[in-house]
Amino acid sequence: MLITYYTLDTIDSTNNWAKRRARSFVSDELAVISAVEQTDGRGCFERSWYSPRKCNLYLSFAFSLPKVTSNIFCYSQMAACAIHELLKENDILAQVKWPNDLLVNGKKIAGILTETHPFDKRCLVVVGIGLNVNMEARELKHIEKPATSMAEITSTSWSLEEVKLRLVTLFSRQLKKEFAEVMTTWHQLVSWMVGTYVKVQRSVAVIDGSVKAIEPDGTLIVDGIDGKLRIIRSGEILN
Ligand code: BTN
Repeated sequence: MLITYYTLDTIDSTNNWAKRRARSFVSDELAVISAVEQTDGRGCFERSWYSPRKCNLYLSFAFSLPKVTSNIFCYSQMAACAIHELLKENDILAQVKWPNDLLVNGKKIAGILTETHPFDKRCLVVVGIGLNVNMEARELKHIEKPATSMAEITSTSWSLEEVKLRLVTLFSRQLKKEFAEVMTTWHQLVSWMVGTYVKVQRSVAVIDGSVKAIEPDGTLIVDGIDGKLRIIRSGEILN
């Protein structure tokens, strides 16, 4: 795959930028789009992603695939594995929280928003990553849920460029792997959740219970406090 870099200054969202440009990418291209700041950074579940200037990594990987593609979920898992590895190399031990949040000491350090965008006879896959790199305690307080950054954990500031390049290397290595291998690694990373209590927001209801299992395909099995076993393929863990 040919890696091309698009380094932007101020942009609404690197994911949006990639989708607008879908037709301009060539078919064997891995586009790496990063921005200094985002004015409309987007998180999962229609949330916004706080993206102040020169603070953190706001990056999207974009590549096109034939339209009929299954297992888009696996690309988020590749990103989670790559971020986990990057942090581990720098002595930051993160946990992957189902489905793909990265936490350190219970606080979020990175999030992944994978989207697809059909165009012509193809489909653009956009894997957006927000990694808190140099955000200081003062800024972290702007985030609704507990959050941390590489700088807060290590008491050093990091080169955004170096972190970006390493993430590109690690993610492109993941892309070369078989899905089954990625799933196995991801499965090991989330398995700490088995037995923990979770509150899961589904489209309308909230499910309370303990995690009975996480299937190798990513399905979350929850032993509900109401005695019912729930099979959850997508949702947000609120606690
Ligand atoms: C989450 O809610 O955990 C996902 C956050 C994803 C944020 C990144 S920042 C780069 C890319 N552009 C966006 O607008 N969102 C993603």
